[in-house]
Amino acid sequence: MTRDRMLRLHVLREGEAGLLPLVLLHGFPLDHRMWLDVTDLLPGDRTVLAPDLPGFGASPSGPDIAAALGADRDAPSVDVMADGVAATLRSAGVDRAVIGGLSMGGYVAMALLERHPDLVAGVGLIDTKSTADDEGARSKRLEIARTVVAEHRVDAVFGMRTSVLGASNRVARPDLVERIEGWIRDQGPRAVAWAQEAMAARPDRTDALAGYEGPSVVVVGDEDELSPVPTAQHMVEALKDSELVVVRGAGHMTSNESPEPVAAALGELLARAGRAAARV
Ligand code: MLT
Repeated sequence: MTRDRMLRLHVLREGEAGLLPLVLLHGFPLDHRMWLDVTDLLPGDRTVLAPDLPGFGASPSGPDIAAALGADRDAPSVDVMADGVAATLRSAGVDRAVIGGLSMGGYVAMALLERHPDLVAGVGLIDTKSTADDEGARSKRLEIARTVVAEHRVDAVFGMRTSVLGASNRVARPDLVERIEGWIRDQGPRAVAWAQEAMAARPDRTDALAGYEGPSVVVVGDEDELSPVPTAQHMVEALKDSELVVVRGAGHMTSNESPEPVAAALGELLARAGRAAARV
């Protein structure tokens, strides 16, 4: 994979060399900027990296990344996102990192666990789920994919500027609604369509969690309507060394609705991953 076909990797913070870096994977249909609030609150000794996933932000499209990865990768898939992240990190000299992912970013983190376990020193699963879509969710995604491409605009996903927030923050945080809408407006219809098709095709990854021995944390907003608390509990039950953090008064975007507990959970995960690395 040549460097110009890699994902754009943003250095959100330069930390101390030799300490495990934190890699943050964004949700749909957003880009690396959603992690700025959390980064401001993280321990300052860690390097924090955030790629734009295929087609989002400044990254090449899903088909371009798939082509760069090799043959038989025509269909949109979360595996292509994960392989693109792995290749991008390795090319930047990162062989091992703590991975945090929110929602779609969590699907990619779980694919990394399955496909690139050597890369993962710890995993933070935030407002996400390990289960696959049911038929209804899958056909809704494919309908949205068709609509955004036909309309050449991403209006069909504008509803997410509020549906990703907790019921109280939809009213109380117009600033956040506006920021999220701005991030959505900056994404292209083809990226939105490709990611919807990729997510529609993703498998159940509960077994990948069950097979993972390293440290993990699962974070969920108690008002998350897209990946609600029981889906978080399901992941914690599958994982061997995990903790559940329920963020009160937040929806699906805990990273921005309530970044303090998310940063604290990721900071604690980094410390646990550091202790685990020191033991081997
Ligand atoms: C996200 O926030 O990334 C989306 O809710 C993921 C999804 O559509 O499943």
